[in-house]
Amino acid sequence: MPNPFPREFKWGVATASYQIEGSSASDGRGTSIWDTFSHTSGKTVNGDTGDVACDHYRRYAADVALMRELAIQSYRFSISWPRIFPNGDEKLEPRGFDFYDRLVDELLEAGISPMATLYHWDLPQALQDRGGWANRETAYAFASYAEKVAARLGDRVEQWVTLNEPWCVAWLGYMSGVHAPGIKNLDQALAAAHHTALAHGLATRAIRSASSTANVGLALNMTNYRVDDPGNADLSTLADLMDAHVNRWWLDAFTIGAYPRALTDFYGPKLQAHIEPGDEDILRVGTDFLGINYYSDSFLGVPAADAKPMQDGGLFPFPQAASSPIPEPKTAMGWPITASGIRDLLLRVSRDWPSVEAIAITENGAAFDDVPSEDGRILDHQRANYLTSHIAAVGEAVELGAPVVSYHAWSFLDNFEWAEGYSKRFGLVYVDYESQNRTPKLSAEVYRSLILAHASDSEAVQQPVG
Ligand code: FCB
Repeated sequence: MPNPFPREFKWGVATASYQIEGSSASDGRGTSIWDTFSHTSGKTVNGDTGDVACDHYRRYAADVALMRELAIQSYRFSISWPRIFPNGDEKLEPRGFDFYDRLVDELLEAGISPMATLYHWDLPQALQDRGGWANRETAYAFASYAEKVAARLGDRVEQWVTLNEPWCVAWLGYMSGVHAPGIKNLDQALAAAHHTALAHGLATRAIRSASSTANVGLALNMTNYRVDDPGNADLSTLADLMDAHVNRWWLDAFTIGAYPRALTDFYGPKLQAHIEPGDEDILRVGTDFLGINYYSDSFLGVPAADAKPMQDGGLFPFPQAASSPIPEPKTAMGWPITASGIRDLLLRVSRDWPSVEAIAITENGAAFDDVPSEDGRILDHQRANYLTSHIAAVGEAVELGAPVVSYHAWSFLDNFEWAEGYSKRFGLVYVDYESQNRTPKLSAEVYRSLILAHASDSEAVQQPVG
């Protein structure tokens, strides 16, 4: 089969600061909302916290060396805001900044392109104390932080992601409360949804002004909503609302400066209350690339007869939506494995948002219950199959014209999986949390072979014939 991936395509892995760094009280780091949340009883499985995590803050050099052995070409990591600005204000902690300097230098030395995410959920607690993402000021504080980081690292980092999965930030953080800061309030969730979109607009401009070579995007969690009875009008309406909520909100914001009509109608003045004159221009910032985090499709069934609306008449979390049986096979998260969905999604984004000229797969991966065998190997065939089938589906989309430029497997290491603590393993590399030993799993070997095969194939394609 000809290799559909262009020569300059980059194969990478992704992580996030709070999930791997540990050293949560070292070198002047401030407290983040995830420190507070994970230290609150009952919020995470087994009361797990990111205090130590993968100890990457101290082991980063060995981790980069391991990435290099695995033939990784691009590393998407995130910067911990409170490590650099412990109180979320202008007062800088130079030791925090130095860490990211060293990390970036180590990556470049190893021939790996850095892709830096500025916000992967670890908001300085000091900003949450003033309302967090429900407070409009946080969007401005974020832009100021983004500008300073881009000014410092922009000579070496070109790929920037502003926010990771703002849907999760707003709706899991401020409405369902399963993520930090653990708030359950529709007004705050709507405010946060708007303020994260504003933050992307403001920060994109700030990064571009600080670094002329910057390539700036946003990482969205996206899915395809599949309905089990397409003829059912209620179900179609529900699917459209879900799609608007999860897929279209931030994409429409940065492409057209407005939110989907289905939602502005649905929320009416409740949403409008947070929008100020001129916001449309801030939102409509365009993008250099769109980051897509894809894990699985979503299945909607006929609304359950006893489904009740949420408090305040809010729609999230759409209790009806869970009623469709989730098809097998599933991952350890209970998420269905739907490889062709990533192809369909990429084609849909290319069709519906033609102004998006480049797409980076910023996350794709699966949790399974890995058990080391007697000889210490981790034969995670299911994860290896998950990766190869999804990469093949990305290749199909590329062949059909989707402008995909990179792929990042989630995750490089097993790590702190938010509310699930350490109970869910997503890594290509197994982490023994007692010893902090790293062992590449079978999936890492498979991914490495695939990267090398694509690299040599695309070289062959470049060679003149005869
Ligand atoms: C995404 C998050 C990432 C990780 C994966 C499994 O929603 O961005 O940090 O937790 O899910």
